[in-house]
Amino acid sequence: MTAEPVAVPHVVNVDLTGRTALVTGGGSGIGRACALRLAAAGAAVLVVDRNVEAAKTVATEAGGRAEGIDLADAGAVDRLDTDVDIVLNNAGLQHVAPVPDFPAERFAYLHRVMVEAPFLIIRRALPHMYARGWGRIINISSVHGLRASPYKAAYVSAKHALEGLSKVVALEGAEHGVTANCINPAYVRTALVESQIADQATTHGIPESEVVEKIMLARAAIKRLIEPEEVAELVAYLCTPPAAFITGASIALDGGWTAN
Ligand SMILES: NC(=O)c1ccc[n+]([C@@H]2O[C@H](COP(=O)([O-])OP(=O)(O)OC[C@H]3O[C@@H](n4cnc5c(N)ncnc54)[C@H](O)[C@@H]3O)[C@@H](O)[C@H]2O)c1
Repeated sequence: MTAEPVAVPHVVNVDLTGRTALVTGGGSGIGRACALRLAAAGAAVLVVDRNVEAAKTVATEAGGRAEGIDLADAGAVDRLDTDVDIVLNNAGLQHVAPVPDFPAERFAYLHRVMVEAPFLIIRRALPHMYARGWGRIINISSVHGLRASPYKAAYVSAKHALEGLSKVVALEGAEHGVTANCINPAYVRTALVESQIADQATTHGIPESEVVEKIMLARAAIKRLIEPEEVAELVAYLCTPPAAFITGASIALDGGWTAN
């Protein structure tokens, strides 16, 4: 990991008292930071994660509820409480391998977690949002929803599909006061990135020490990892009244990566 974490103060002024939020993958990393940020703004948060203990810990910190499920299990996803005002589709995972070696079952699993589960959650949350005339669908995509990298066939294709889903929901939700957006971070300082460093070192044949600098930060103009709290602050902004016109967007939080 490079450099020291950057402190991220709460600068967005948003009052979510009386609102409810469902955060997938809320047990760790970006999801945890977002669950805590939404709770700090007054929202009642439902933390969903396959790591039950992590979900419970974050729910306790956030004063919310926890649900331990694997989002690849469509039946379990369909039993989630989706009567919420804010859906944050955040859970995700990576698998790094060249296409000829990519396990088909792993490809399907990533798509179930990162495309099908968001769809199943959104389709059941929207009627509640439509009834109230307000809703926020926020999808944590990636620069890999906008650009490709080698060895990430499942992740890149799943994130591109999430982008399409988000845009369709934006078009359908507009007349009901529901916005849908993607946030597209480059590399964020989380466990997901830490676990990729060893994988990428093997795949690219370079030492682990060079992976962050030469692979992860190669395309970003700003040479540091993003903090999870920086993503959470943008999530908070998307829930403010002035953000009501932002919909169908893919908001790059990538230090200039996609400016290239
Ligand atoms: N870290 C980055 O650099 C980065 C960059 C761009 C986008 N993202 C995206 O941000 C999101 C969060 O990533 P993170 O870096 O915080 O990762 P993380 O590994 O720290 O957290 C992901 C969480 O999702 C949960 N999860 C994974 N698969 C699940 C499943 N099948 N069912 C239920 N829960 C599951 C994990 O248990 C974990 O708590 C992902 O969608 C990821 O693609 C991350």
